[in-house]
Amino acid sequence: MAKRAQILGTGLYVPPDVVTNFDLEKLVDTSDEWIVERTGIRERRFVDGETAASDIALEASRVALDTAGIGPDELDLIILGTVTPDYVFPATACVLQDLLGARNAAAFDLSAGCSGLLYGINIATQFVETGKFEKILCVGVETLSKILDMNDRNTCVLFGDGAGVAVVGESTDDAGILSTYMKADGSLVDMLYMPGGGSRNPSTYESIDARLHYIKMEGREVFKVAVRMMVEASNKVLDEAGYSGEDVDVFIPHQANMRIMEAVAKRVGVPREKVYVNLDKYGNTSAASIGLALDEAVRDGTIEPGHLVLLVAFGAGFTWAGTLIRWS
Ligand code: ACO
Repeated sequence: MAKRAQILGTGLYVPPDVVTNFDLEKLVDTSDEWIVERTGIRERRFVDGETAASDIALEASRVALDTAGIGPDELDLIILGTVTPDYVFPATACVLQDLLGARNAAAFDLSAGCSGLLYGINIATQFVETGKFEKILCVGVETLSKILDMNDRNTCVLFGDGAGVAVVGESTDDAGILSTYMKADGSLVDMLYMPGGGSRNPSTYESIDARLHYIKMEGREVFKVAVRMMVEASNKVLDEAGYSGEDVDVFIPHQANMRIMEAVAKRVGVPREKVYVNLDKYGNTSAASIGLALDEAVRDGTIEPGHLVLLVAFGAGFTWAGTLIRWS
């Protein structure tokens, strides 16, 4: 019988420092009222100056491995999605491999913006289904506070830091990952990107003076494309597995903006009460966001065995992805 992949365990870590909308009111011309009404975000977490992506990925990975009941040396592969790696190279996945002591694992990073964790889970699913690998650590981690322009109210109020992890392995029952979908459109790269620090605009005094090492985003345009593509990804994975929006028990969209999540749910036909939201506490944590929501939904009992769980993401690139899971 063909192998099926399943999520064997999840974990999250968020740094302890809470930054509220009221804190941001002191830095830029904004208000708690504007941020809550336009986005649904009330607070977010920021790492301190010394903490890097691998440090918080390590904490979340340990929890996920414990929950899955497997040791780090059993891992065959680590896939780490991030846009805020420890270094341009080598991969943060390799730093994490060493910190974890995952001596038998291959490791690589992937850059798919907020779709990073779902891209990772979908790639891991293929390896498990073919039998090439048995246990894969999928990490979504961001320290976005390090690339936020705290003078730009259009972006600094939206993002937060955190790490969300899922261990993917072979399913031992009929449940598991039923369908996956991934897509990209690179024609709109400059709608959401960090222009500095790569080979296009290497780091120079001039690039730093021009503030090229911060997130730049055309929010209104991103909003429209995000809704359209997350609807597409949702419908693709539901169709492939023979389900519709009404069958979904728990819907976890990328936690970017409350209005985006509600618009997507409505168009896919998922009732509002099935949409899982923790954006209010953490903001948009990019690649970590679906991992933070998935772990909380499992631990607070929202996701139960037998539930049909729809995960859908959209991020810089643009990239978008969906994963449909029968939870076990
Ligand atoms: N506080 C107060 N006013 C603000 C703020 C703020 N923090 N930010 C913008 N405004 C102002 C704007 O300047 C504008 O004023 P103007 O009309 O005088 O020019 C006004 O508010 C309205 O701005 P819009 O951009 O039209 O506001 P909108 O309702 O679209 O909300 C937002 C902006 C929240 C950014 C929204 O467009 C959005 O969420 N977009 C998607 C962003 C997203 O999901 N990004 C992540 C994608 S995933 C990834 O890979 C990271």
